[in-house]
Amino acid sequence: MSNGKIPVIIDCDPGIDDAVALALAFGCGKLDVLGVTTVAGNTTGENTHRNARKFLSFIGADVEVARGADKPILRPLVTAPQVHGETGLGGLGEPGDEDPDASGRSAFDLITDTLLNHPEKVTLVPVGPLTNLAIALLAKPEIKRKIEKIVLMGGAALEGNRTPAAEFNIYVDPEAARIVFESGVPITMIGLDVTHKALIYPDEIEALRRFGRIGRTVAELMDFYGNHYRKRFEGNPIHDALAVAAVFEPDIVSTRHLSVCVETSAEFTLGRTVVDFRGVTGREPNCHVALGVDRERFIELIFNAVKYLEQMAQ
Ligand code: BDR
Ligand code: CA
Repeated sequence: MSNGKIPVIIDCDPGIDDAVALALAFGCGKLDVLGVTTVAGNTTGENTHRNARKFLSFIGADVEVARGADKPILRPLVTAPQVHGETGLGGLGEPGDEDPDASGRSAFDLITDTLLNHPEKVTLVPVGPLTNLAIALLAKPEIKRKIEKIVLMGGAALEGNRTPAAEFNIYVDPEAARIVFESGVPITMIGLDVTHKALIYPDEIEALRRFGRIGRTVAELMDFYGNHYRKRFEGNPIHDALAVAAVFEPDIVSTRHLSVCVETSAEFTLGRTVVDFRGVTGREPNCHVALGVDRERFIELIFNAVKYLEQMAQ
């Protein structure tokens, strides 16, 4: 933490909650974001890369954005248009006159070069399918010694969302997730067990809407997202932003250190993160599984970040 900030790389598939995660990362003042990489997931690789560049430029973040995998390692891509819209950011995701690709590197090169060349260990924050990370770990296993930890959004100890058993990010590329969970690198899993408790409520979205241009846009993204989530919840989960919050404020979640395996070959439970609560497998714990969360503090962090970005844009 040479500049007092935590060095991170964010790997994402914007995606509405991914966009809020980026806003929190750049507005919290606690993270040194060394690069942003994108992966196909919520929408195509072309869309997630465009959305990341578009949203980062909108919030005034100056960072390299490198494009990664366009499909999972073994499987066809599964996307989530019902949650994020056809192009990934609700109405904001349409192709426009954004800048051409600013990065000359692939996501894999950005991840491996940055890790190997940065003087400190770096925290990785993947909030989409784990394809890019798995490829980087396989291509250059020596990066492991430079990873402080992986704080990922994905998985669930209890219920899934893409299927009854599996959370979306793990379901989309279960082989990649398995590679990451078996890598030996310390992992914190911010799964549905906590993101479904960290909801932003309608009155809080209205408050955000009054914060100016960035607050209004985040509120509009929440409006779109609410079309899906409000059928089931009183508010919206902002899954990916919670993973970012847990990097600079780890106490925002309570965790248990447990063994987690990823199911890659089952008919009904493909992509399940199997959490061994009772230690019946005898496997060594490989993951800090988040089970409790301070919701109010999380929303406060989002408000503060949006206000900060708004001030910086003035
Ligand atoms: C995860 O799936 C995606 O749709 C979201 O962006 C988040 O990363 C939640 O299951
Ligand atoms: Ca995501």
